[in-house]
Amino acid sequence: MNRLKLAITKGRLLEDSAAMLERAGLDCASLRAPGRRLVLEIPNYPLDAVLSKAPDVITYVEHGVCDMGIVGKDTIMEHGRRFFEVLDLGFGKCRFALAVKEGSDFYGTYKTRRIASKYPKVAADYFTAKGMDVSIIKIEGSVELAPLLNLADAIVDIVETGDTLKANGLVPIETICLVSARLIVNTASMKLYKKEIFSFIKTCEDGLK
Ligand code: PRP
Repeated sequence: MNRLKLAITKGRLLEDSAAMLERAGLDCASLRAPGRRLVLEIPNYPLDAVLSKAPDVITYVEHGVCDMGIVGKDTIMEHGRRFFEVLDLGFGKCRFALAVKEGSDFYGTYKTRRIASKYPKVAADYFTAKGMDVSIIKIEGSVELAPLLNLADAIVDIVETGDTLKANGLVPIETICLVSARLIVNTASMKLYKKEIFSFIKTCEDGLK
């Protein structure tokens, strides 16, 4: 049987991914304690895992160096192009929101609004759909700072508990869409290893029950 390669997003999604696979009977000790190793073998299933940053999961799957990936819908919306999105894994739940400084009137001006985001494409698509001309400013992290420093009138960002917004005096004014982790599959792998991939999808579904 061909060994499949799965890219898993490091950080928040890794714990839930390992728990899902363990519930389906896979030995995920290597995922729990990867040390400095980058390719991790699952001893009781024909699967090797690599742990990487979310946008890299998409790059590996699109290039076919990994057959499958576990990545958030947020990253798919921002970076994704050519692969199959086969399963909503249901964990890693959060939402994309538009947020402003408490008390500020986002729509109460004719000036072009400045929107800061780690997700410039998601932000641009949202305002294009509204027919609103905005200026997008790409920020790499802690985007909540942008309105506080008056760099932007609003932010488009991931909100999970809402604690980060609250702690910085920001309020969400619109939900753009809901986000959760997805299983994605390389298009060629889907043809070449259909049986193995369908079997892995079933394994994930078992782990989600
Ligand atoms: C995300 C997001 C918010 C925070 C939201 O950042 O960009 O800052 O989490 O979570 P909350 O609603 O539960 O407070 P992340 O932790 O990924 O860090 P980063 O800003 O460095 O990317």
